[in-house]
Amino acid sequence: MNTYPVWIDCDIGVDDAIAIMAAHALPQIDLLGISTTCGNASQENTYRNAHRLNGLLGTDYPVYRGAVSPLCRELLTASHFHGNDGLGDVDLPVPPDAVYRVETAWDALYDAAVKHPHELRLIALGPLTNIATAFSKYPDLPGLLHSMLIMGGAAVGGNITPAAEFNIYCDPEAAELVFDSGVHIIMCGLDVTLKALLRPADWDELAATGTKAGKFVRDCVQCAWQFSQKFGLSGVAMHDSCPVLYLAHPELFRAEEAGVKIETRSTLTLGKTVTDLYSDKQFDEKNATVVLDVDRDRFIEILKNCIKSI
Ligand code: RIB
Ligand code: CA
Repeated sequence: MNTYPVWIDCDIGVDDAIAIMAAHALPQIDLLGISTTCGNASQENTYRNAHRLNGLLGTDYPVYRGAVSPLCRELLTASHFHGNDGLGDVDLPVPPDAVYRVETAWDALYDAAVKHPHELRLIALGPLTNIATAFSKYPDLPGLLHSMLIMGGAAVGGNITPAAEFNIYCDPEAAELVFDSGVHIIMCGLDVTLKALLRPADWDELAATGTKAGKFVRDCVQCAWQFSQKFGLSGVAMHDSCPVLYLAHPELFRAEEAGVKIETRSTLTLGKTVTDLYSDKQFDEKNATVVLDVDRDRFIEILKNCIKSI
């Protein structure tokens, strides 16, 4: 079995937290560091949440602060789904021995890429502000990465608007810079993530194990569950676990190569990931692998086994 060096940039958030728990548990993933950006919650909260997660897991993954706002837009958060603190407003303390590093997210990411040339897998689970900042400061960074996997975008549909997915919509200029950078992107958009639903029976099963991790998952998704039910969903979408499980178990997914460009000017379709998947007119470059489907039952079984192993 292969073990891959991985860096996770995220806006912890409920589904980010569960994705990191999966990354921690999966033997295929050697998690080198976590950087946080604003998005689901403020940078202060997402950074604090990364430390809270280290406390829950009993780990000391290095955590680095990133952007406090998008490149050139106002910050948009998602407390309706993630609660005010970004972790479902559950009781989870910051560990007393938390290490507050001064190195920025983009500098730490670059250092990791230099130490693991052409091997580092970058997984981005929030708005792409930190990644765009890193690529701008270090033009050789895209070429140093093995690949990049993101939760973001959608070939069809949206969530924060009818045309756009939240992570891309939050910072479309950052997304445009990243998609045009030359790094190959495995894009887990809403096309696949809305099929990766964790259902009440699943989180009840996890809580029944009696572990802190199992009870945390049940508790932290409740705010998101209240919101998801309004849209007729049968569970809470494990958006951010998709790129993590894609890296470890690509056999669960179906994907197609495509050209992807980002809308940054329109008001109606701002932040849309325009793909040429369903078009006679093809873009010149296939800069992304767009993930479109998943074996939901096997995906959730593996995800639950990850949580049960913690
Ligand atoms: O649209 C879903 C994405 O936005 C997920 O990454 C979720 O955590 C939020 O950041
Ligand atoms: Ca996220």
